[in-house]
Amino acid sequence: MVEAKPQIHDHLTVTPTGAALGAEISGVNLSSELSDSEFEQIEAAFHQHSVIFFRNQNLSPDRHVKFTKKFGEIEISPITQYALPSHPEVLLVTNVEENGKPIGLADAGRFWHSDISYIETPPRCSILHAKEVPFENGKSLGETHFVSTAAAFDDLDDGIKQKAIGLKAIHSFRHKKRAADTKRDAITRRDQQKERPNVLHPVIRTHPVTGRKCIYVASDGECIGIEGLPDAEALTLIDYLANHCIQEKFKYRHQWQVGDVLMWDNCSVQHKTIKDFDLPLRRLMHRTTVNGTRPV
Ligand code: OGA
Ligand code: MN
Repeated sequence: MVEAKPQIHDHLTVTPTGAALGAEISGVNLSSELSDSEFEQIEAAFHQHSVIFFRNQNLSPDRHVKFTKKFGEIEISPITQYALPSHPEVLLVTNVEENGKPIGLADAGRFWHSDISYIETPPRCSILHAKEVPFENGKSLGETHFVSTAAAFDDLDDGIKQKAIGLKAIHSFRHKKRAADTKRDAITRRDQQKERPNVLHPVIRTHPVTGRKCIYVASDGECIGIEGLPDAEALTLIDYLANHCIQEKFKYRHQWQVGDVLMWDNCSVQHKTIKDFDLPLRRLMHRTTVNGTRPV
């Protein structure tokens, strides 16, 4: 007798946003076990579109962690006081306060950046799951904006490409600009600074999977210089490249809905949050991060 094999029905659909990056994936419930084929399609879409998102998900922290681990080892944030007590892998990104104190990171991502670029091996990707989203007059507030640093590289003049390739930028935690209204615990920041020397990363890095070249510098204190260049020349080049990246033509603006699971590639994407709301409007995200490789 021939044993009946389980039929795998994939109904997964990938719909590009129409912007320079980003695609919505529908037809999959991330709370259930993914088939190998589903995961392969999701990972391929991630590499092709750099930002992918799934609507109407309801992931428990366990499931969020499980999905995250399919992409690699989880990075546990040193900001432990803002992690879920039951799940140190899940960081709260939120403006919500209890007893006048923030319960999560309230100032994440106010300036254009790629996550945690100031360490030797910055994360491969970050995954946000929207639990609460501020709404006003029928419009969701607190968008996140993303730009394709791969499309931005392709669009550079040849002369600038040649000049930038081979250079290494100095990434600094210490000089990172903070939002003026930040309430982050000053002690934590000081302790973190002590442990974080500056690191060098290529100004133009090559994506470890797609091989695309990506601009990997940002302004606002993320990158404070370039190895071997006088400061003024270095900062001019950093600002030029950073401003080049954030043009509208390379941008996707994500309007959040409760239940969204969205992930971005920290090599081919820079992102920034729009803080256009305040309490009593609440925004609450569960965030996980996957370890990456040293940029080359
Ligand atoms: C982050 C981040 C932006 C946002 O979590 O790394 O930059 O819109 N968040 O919450
Ligand atoms: Mn970020």
